[in-house]
Amino acid sequence: MFPDSTGELSDLLVSISLGVKLISQMVATAGFKGLHGYSGHVNTHGDEVRQIDREADEVLVELLGSSDHFGLLVSEERDDVIATQAIGAGGKYVIAFDPLDGSSNIGSSIPTGTIFCIFRRQDLAKGASEQDFCQAGHAIVAAGYSVYGAKTSFVYSAGDGVHDFTLDPSIGEFVLTEERITVPERGNIFSVNEGNWCWWDDRMRAFIADLKGRNLVAEKPYTGRYVGSLVADFDRTLRKGGIFMYPTDSKRPNGRLRLLYECLPLAFIMEQSGGFAINGRERLIDVTPTNIHQRSAFIAGSPTEMKWFARSVYDYDL
Ligand code: AHG
Ligand code: MN
Ligand code: MN
Repeated sequence: MFPDSTGELSDLLVSISLGVKLISQMVATAGFKGLHGYSGHVNTHGDEVRQIDREADEVLVELLGSSDHFGLLVSEERDDVIATQAIGAGGKYVIAFDPLDGSSNIGSSIPTGTIFCIFRRQDLAKGASEQDFCQAGHAIVAAGYSVYGAKTSFVYSAGDGVHDFTLDPSIGEFVLTEERITVPERGNIFSVNEGNWCWWDDRMRAFIADLKGRNLVAEKPYTGRYVGSLVADFDRTLRKGGIFMYPTDSKRPNGRLRLLYECLPLAFIMEQSGGFAINGRERLIDVTPTNIHQRSAFIAGSPTEMKWFARSVYDYDL
């Protein structure tokens, strides 16, 4: 279909999927391998890092660092950009990842996952720098996430629809299970941490109250679902529709989630599936990071609920 393709992107995705298989195995056995504890390390966000966060980070840094295609890596667990052996060989892509999302839930068998996005390096002649990661969401070459749950899913898009693979442990391979996932036009699930109620502004509170009342859009109140693991809450929203919200609030004026390796990849996926992802007044695919670890608001889901939210809470017409 693409005569000028080099096969390089496929090779990248295969190397990422190998990392996902290794982490899936690690998560499944973490309990008796003593990986549930804390590593004693605090990351750049001030989060206490669990041993398994570091193990997952090591796997991806080793694996992707030795692939010839990535000149630079960014990991949630590393303060600075990591240059790989390919940097000299002109590795033309850069990848940012959250090695293990939702890791605070790891001990209770709640799903966790890995999130990544790939950009082209801006100027191969120039030395690689953080600037290679400061590109708008619509510049993403490919993005995806895995969910280590009842099954291990690998969901990705390279700009031509969203495709879902399931790991078949009996052969150790990912099998294509769904092509061109499209988010339902409307859902009946809202997903938010209501424990943040006291820090929300009045318009956010009014919107949540509306969802739970007899609201204009659905004949019946919405159902609440919140796992507290972004990949799990996002994956359910993508497949069943509705809306996931992590807005800024008075306690988190810059938001809770990380723009480069949580919000942008998932925004790319949601938009590729026909939904929307915003930070309030902008679509996240139009947002360009200014630093690799900055935080952002993240609201994503079905067109109906997203337009309703954007208008009600931000006077923004999606
Ligand atoms: P991570 O484990 O990579 O630090 O991400 C945790 C994030 C995300 O998974 C989830 O949506 C969010 O933390 C939950 O935050 P609250 O506990 O504030 O709801
Ligand atoms: Mn995360
Ligand atoms: Mn993480």
